[in-house]
Amino acid sequence: MLRSKDLTGLYDASAEEIVEILDRAAEMKALLAKGRKSEKTLAGTALVTLFYENSTRTRTSFELAGKYLGAHEVNIASASSSVQKGETLIDTGRTLDAMKIDFIAIRHPLAGAPALLARNVSASVINAGDGMNEHPTQALLDMFTMREKFGKIEGLKVAILGDIKHSRVAKSNLFGLKKLGAEVYMYAPRTLMPMGIDELGAHVCNSMEEAVAGAHCVMGLRIQLERQKGGLFPSLSEYSRFYGVKDDILSLADKDAIIMHPGPVNRGIELTPSLIDGDRSVIEEQVTNGLVTRMAVLSLLREYREKNL
Ligand code: CP
Repeated sequence: MLRSKDLTGLYDASAEEIVEILDRAAEMKALLAKGRKSEKTLAGTALVTLFYENSTRTRTSFELAGKYLGAHEVNIASASSSVQKGETLIDTGRTLDAMKIDFIAIRHPLAGAPALLARNVSASVINAGDGMNEHPTQALLDMFTMREKFGKIEGLKVAILGDIKHSRVAKSNLFGLKKLGAEVYMYAPRTLMPMGIDELGAHVCNSMEEAVAGAHCVMGLRIQLERQKGGLFPSLSEYSRFYGVKDDILSLADKDAIIMHPGPVNRGIELTPSLIDGDRSVIEEQVTNGLVTRMAVLSLLREYREKNL
């Protein structure tokens, strides 16, 4: 049983809640494998996807998750909403509440926006990525993918490489993985490594070799040029040369190591095309697992709402 009507991050989630979501995602994956896309789990509910930033994977998978489980589903793109006329986030949320919406999946450029919304609406708010803060459903789908491959999370070594400073994916993975007993090793240019991440439990490495040695999971991160004011590294070609993940580094990793990336990927910058498309890559499976993980989150939040609200 989840402990809150909302999922705004993994910093405050318990290990039991995370395992419950992963177990439910496995049930959802089994349903999908049977071709079942017309369930009644969310029948009589309504889901809004409220995205103030671009998305392909997260928004589409929330929408499909709602549809496959029988919810009514509506998308609001901020470019065509009353946000453009000056409406505040809280007023937008209250407007949706007045239409008896049950779930709001929100992506916002400002850290904390989903938590603010959650405190001001009766709908369940799911953080679909807030600024440089958290992206909990991405980390949950990543953990689901790791657990499928290795049978457990405890004891895994996970190397996270790249633009960690701007990455909400890295932070949510760190919080979730630590709670389930994995160790997280991070490597980035110094200018892209956030101060204090070691105090949150990450091993900050001085070389990519140190991060990848013996790793079970090697996760590249997207360079987030849209969140940078410039000057954090000389050029994309130099970033790729010195910090991009190349094929030969895998010889240092565990023999069964998998290659992960949350997407969207800048081909040839963060990872070589041969790693992205190679047989160790689970990047497409991550996308499938995103759908079943979001189905799991919605179904568990519905159970919370039925019992507690
Ligand atoms: N991984 C991720 O959040 O992808 P999108 O930006 O396409 O949703």
